[in-house]
Amino acid sequence: MALDRSAIRPPIAMLAELTHRCPLSCPYCSNPVELTRINSELDTETWQSVFKQAGELGVLQLHLSGGEPASRRDLETLVTSARDAGLYTNLITSGIGLTERRLKALDEAGLDHIQLSLQGTDAPMADQIGGYKGGFDRKMKVAEWIADIGFPLTLNAVLHRRNLHQLPRALEMAVEMGARRIEVATVQFHGWALKNRDTLMPTREQAREADRIVSEARAALKGTLVIDYVPADYHSDFPKRCMGGWGTTGLNVAPDGKVLPCHAAETIPHLQFDNVRDKSLSDIWYYNSAFQAYRGTDWMSEPCQSCERKTVDFGGCRCQAMAIVGDASATDPVCIKSPHHGALQAQADAHASVADAPLVYREAPGKESEPAE
Ligand code: SF4
Ligand code: FES
Repeated sequence: MALDRSAIRPPIAMLAELTHRCPLSCPYCSNPVELTRINSELDTETWQSVFKQAGELGVLQLHLSGGEPASRRDLETLVTSARDAGLYTNLITSGIGLTERRLKALDEAGLDHIQLSLQGTDAPMADQIGGYKGGFDRKMKVAEWIADIGFPLTLNAVLHRRNLHQLPRALEMAVEMGARRIEVATVQFHGWALKNRDTLMPTREQAREADRIVSEARAALKGTLVIDYVPADYHSDFPKRCMGGWGTTGLNVAPDGKVLPCHAAETIPHLQFDNVRDKSLSDIWYYNSAFQAYRGTDWMSEPCQSCERKTVDFGGCRCQAMAIVGDASATDPVCIKSPHHGALQAQADAHASVADAPLVYREAPGKESEPAE
């Protein structure tokens, strides 16, 4: 039966992973364990074409990410092209590799928004987690330049067992930096983070405490700071609506041009992905079998299929179902209705009680970055 395209809405957001190169080596990096090398990255012209196609497809927001997107020397040119394509541009960055001059050039190119990551609220924590000495001080300098230029800013605080006690300070820092929004993101266990569950898994008590702090801060900072919260889902009873629903809201383009329904989709072994070097973005969004695989609700089995929440969370995260249950079409084991929920919670408590586990840092495809200027 031919596919009815009219039943599929266009994507709202696109994440462009411009490169996997990064000066940091965070042990929870969302990049795949097999990183793309510089000589496989899309060139400037191909990215420009992808942005144009994204605008025509209906994408509104473009998230320029990595790795560290500032590792691309053509970042300013890419921002200009994205704006010409009618896209709202958000730069997701650690700040390392950005100079004041470069930020001004990005402003002139039309960059709309910056999302700055925070590995910790002081230098010892941040530099240890990022694996980059001097990174925190540099980031604070970059935050000052961002404020001086007047970019709208979101602070992205990534939290886990080692730094969850810093959440109150992270909220204060967001206000001090003039951020409009903070994303309080408890580490999600895919890719590199999956290798680090023994050292990064929050305790149940930490997870509950974070819920309390966020709820109180939301009330206290209403009108000053918007708080987006990704809770510690292994300790939750209902799963997150991952990617806003598979093939529903957004798509990711990897550094080599592969188009993915989410950043971890390559961990689902039977899926076949297409590449922007071979097919149009529109063809991929509407017809690629990987996007079709878990779109909507027809693919679901029980307990999701007859559940009243099935169009609320779309059965949770497909990659988490694959990683934990070994079946990407299973109910996310975070869900209290999953037969694997109890085992997952026990696993979470076991990981959270391991003392002195080492941090397994993300490796290169090169920590090397092209010189910023
Ligand atoms: Fe969501 Fe499925 Fe759980 Fe229902 S059974 S809450 S749809 S994951
Ligand atoms: Fe892939 Fe959640 S990370 S669906």
